[in-house]
Amino acid sequence: FPVENIRNFSIVAHVDHGKSTLADRLLELTGTIDKTKNNKQVLDKLQVERERGITVKAQTASLFYNCEGKQYLLNLIDTPGHVDFSYEVSRSLSACQGVLLVVDANEGIQAQTVANFFLAFEAQLSVIPVINKIDLKNADPERVENQIEKVFDIPSDECIKISAKLGTNVESVLQAIIERIPPPKVHRKNPLRALVFDSTFDQYRGVIANVALFDGVVSKGDKIVSAHTQKTYEVNEVGVLNPNEQPTHKLYAGQVGYLIAGMKDVTEAQIGDTLCLHKQPMEPLPGFKSAKPMVFAGMYPLDQSEYNNLKSAIEKLTLNDSSVTVHRDSSLALGAGWRLGFLGLLHMEVFNQRLEQEYNASVILTTPTVPYKAVLSSSKLIKARRAVQKNMIFIDQNRVMLKYLFPLNEIVVDFYDSLKSLSSGYASFDYEDAGYQTAELVKMDILLNGNTVEELVTVVHKDKAHSIGKAICERLKDSLPRQLFEIAIQAAIGSKIIARETVKAYRKNVLAKCYGGDITRKMKLLKRQAEGKKKLRKIGNVEVPKDAFIKVLKTQ
Ligand code: GTP
Repeated sequence: FPVENIRNFSIVAHVDHGKSTLADRLLELTGTIDKTKNNKQVLDKLQVERERGITVKAQTASLFYNCEGKQYLLNLIDTPGHVDFSYEVSRSLSACQGVLLVVDANEGIQAQTVANFFLAFEAQLSVIPVINKIDLKNADPERVENQIEKVFDIPSDECIKISAKLGTNVESVLQAIIERIPPPKVHRKNPLRALVFDSTFDQYRGVIANVALFDGVVSKGDKIVSAHTQKTYEVNEVGVLNPNEQPTHKLYAGQVGYLIAGMKDVTEAQIGDTLCLHKQPMEPLPGFKSAKPMVFAGMYPLDQSEYNNLKSAIEKLTLNDSSVTVHRDSSLALGAGWRLGFLGLLHMEVFNQRLEQEYNASVILTTPTVPYKAVLSSSKLIKARRAVQKNMIFIDQNRVMLKYLFPLNEIVVDFYDSLKSLSSGYASFDYEDAGYQTAELVKMDILLNGNTVEELVTVVHKDKAHSIGKAICERLKDSLPRQLFEIAIQAAIGSKIIARETVKAYRKNVLAKCYGGDITRKMKLLKRQAEGKKKLRKIGNVEVPKDAFIKVLKTQ
């Protein structure tokens, strides 16, 4: 393919404005996929994406399009819209020269429309505004055109008005891609430089790296070297994504595709790495800023015998999602596990769901926290040292001075949602590290009949401890099933109890319906009850369903 006939572009938008639907129509129009009623979010491959109706992972597809006798290769990269996943957006943009900025004709410009526009603008990409959902009864495309002109300084006549759902006017989007987005500036005669912008793990074929070629050519059989690790590999397969992998003999500069080169260890395919020919090593391409985790949670196997399975599942999944950081950790109550860092709460939930769905792993997640830095006065040194060994974040003392990033703790759980509803979805929200600040913090324990629930230990501001403690106790009361005995739920700071709720005694008698029944049926029911209990965590003598923790945390 001549470089001048290649266009690399992304679709960006606020959540639900129709990126995936537009991607489906573009795939159909170019004959990449058949036109059937079932083409719903073809690029959303993950089960969690289909279930939640959100895009988590950027996908790539190469489309072939004929226009005025010329054949064009259009490389499309789908991107997620939620703020938790904006690192995926900037990563995708590094392989593009232009974006389609999709805006809902009814809702108009929203928070992520603005954030995505500026990501594209800073990367100096061509921006094509696409006003979608013009078929809606309340659609007001003229109002949205004016917004776009006012906010982004893009003349309103550059807006393309479409209905991705019905396919109306989608052809003119393809025309605009060819006319308004420049071909990539690349050099095929130079030695190879390929940017790894994403990678996935396949059980049988190992690591599949998604690459954008900036210089040269790569063919099957080439010996390549990673600029990051200096390890060499032989290329086993190269190809384009259509959107499924389709092997080709070569990939040329300007193209986007995949490459398999016998990378078996998940840590070998670093995103942002540059691949060169072994014989002609080159200066690496500018990589990506690594994503900075903002929410930390402990993750432990439900049963310690599953430690190794969970370890390999986490390793594989982090290859697909390199923004998750992993450190080994251990807890007296929960055994060996990890402390994971996520970009936000949705990111954490999605990771957890993918572990369960794609790797069949059962895990316990502890309360998410933000990073704190503890500074201890020297007279507390001995006890403090013990605490640090146990856990880097929670200190086993009341009177310690902690340095922390105050607002972050306030925003990790529900700030984004409240902000969105308060501002009718208009306010833009993004976060970055602003350094550490001094604050009066206390460690709060949640106790069930006097035993600490490790999963729910939190660090809170002194002034908020009472109200947060009370809320957690109330919520825990709602999610704990009654048991044979009374359960006292308490929030405590050190030895001081600051809130209490009680769950009254009760027993679910599974044999109630079996009077006179035969003994084997009774045994069966008792066995089933015992199996059900395996999904429970025992804290002292109290049984806690695994999802009770998540329920308590989510509405916090
Ligand atoms: P994320 O992947 O979560 O960022 O969402 P998205 O931007 O990809 O949105 P998606 O394509 O999933 O569309 C969101 C909803 O809007 C779906 O229910 C679509 O059916 C609907 N939708 C998309 N395009 C149109 C359109 O042109 N008209 C109407 N009426 N609905 C549309």
